[in-house]
Amino acid sequence: MAQRIAIFASGAGSNAENIINYFRHNACGAEVVLVVSNRNDAGVLQRASHLGVPACVVSRADINNPDIILPLMDHYSVDVVVLAGFLLMVPVCLIERFHDRMVNIHPSLLPKFGGKGMYGRYVHEAVVAAGETESGITIHMVSERYDEGRILYQGRVPVEPGDTPDEVESRVRALELEHYPRVIQQVFCTTE
Ligand code: GRF
Repeated sequence: MAQRIAIFASGAGSNAENIINYFRHNACGAEVVLVVSNRNDAGVLQRASHLGVPACVVSRADINNPDIILPLMDHYSVDVVVLAGFLLMVPVCLIERFHDRMVNIHPSLLPKFGGKGMYGRYVHEAVVAAGETESGITIHMVSERYDEGRILYQGRVPVEPGDTPDEVESRVRALELEHYPRVIQQVFCTTE
């Protein structure tokens, strides 16, 4: 069955754009049908509009309101939710509706450098400050304990002595772009 994907994103949206393009040029039939952002100034909105993908700004209150967010998912017949730099807690109503159908990417090797306050640059700063010799990405199912769902894929990059957080970030970002769409396809698009 062709999967209809909604991407939730709060930021620049480079992962969202990459995933939209990947499934446009891929024969598995999956398609990004909706982008949801909680911020009206998020770069992801411009990218979605440029790519012709419907995008909605939904306030934190409305994302947490089952009477608003669930009908929105129904309206677009969403099968799979992909979090790509989405900075709000996902409400239980969505986690339950999309049980085993919602994935997240985190820019570290979870369980290291996960949890509250660990997002974006803060993660890479913490990795460097801790003297880690490697970092990477974790793609995981979303459960009620946000960063603790079943791990689907981890990819690693080296961290050399003297590396800056920026250097680690750009290596990790390259991994995100390479693997996130591929893992989504593998998990959700392999059975007919
Ligand atoms: C990525 O580093 C992702 O791992 C994290 O948030 C960032 C999103 O970047 N969760 P972008 O909005 O996709 O450009």
